[in-house]
Amino acid sequence: MKNKKAFPDREAGRILSSLRRDSRVKKMKSFTQHGTVSTFDHCRAVTKLSLGIDRRLHLHSDKKVLITGAMLHDYFLYDWHDKARPGQKIHGYTHAAAAAKNARSHFGIDKRTHHVIHSHMWPLNITRVPRSREAWIVCAADKIVSIRETVMTRRKK
Ligand SMILES: [Fe+2]
Ligand SMILES: [Fe+2]
Repeated sequence: MKNKKAFPDREAGRILSSLRRDSRVKKMKSFTQHGTVSTFDHCRAVTKLSLGIDRRLHLHSDKKVLITGAMLHDYFLYDWHDKARPGQKIHGYTHAAAAAKNARSHFGIDKRTHHVIHSHMWPLNITRVPRSREAWIVCAADKIVSIRETVMTRRKK
C-alpha cells in the first residue's frame, strides 16, 4: 500500500482523512503557498513528513496533535502574495497566530495543537519557541518542505 509508511496506524489515517475532506480545510486549495503548490498541498506534505519523522525517530508523538497541528499550521485563509492586502509584508511574522486563531475558532483545537501551529515559524517568531515534540516536528518538517517547494519552483522557471 502506497501510504502505509506515512500513515502508520488506522487512527492517524482517520484523523487525516476527516481533516482533508473538511470543506473549510479544502479552502486552502484556492491559495498558493510556494510556486504552483497550494497551501492545502503544502500542509498535506508537511503532515506526511511530520508523520515520517515521528516514525523514523520513534518519537511516539500524540498523533491527533501532530496531524491536526501539521494540517492546520498554515490555516490563515488568505492569499499571502496579494500586495494589496494590509499586512502583506509582515505575513511571515503574523500568519502563525492567524492560523492558530482560525483553527481554534473553526475546530476548537486544544492548547497543545494551538501551540504546534503558533510556534511553527520559529525562529522567525523568535519568542515562540516550540515546547513539545509535536511542535518541534512540525516546525522542522515545514522548513524542509518549504525549501523543497521553493527550489522546485525555481528549477521550473
Ligand atoms: Fe507557515
Ligand atoms: Fe508552512
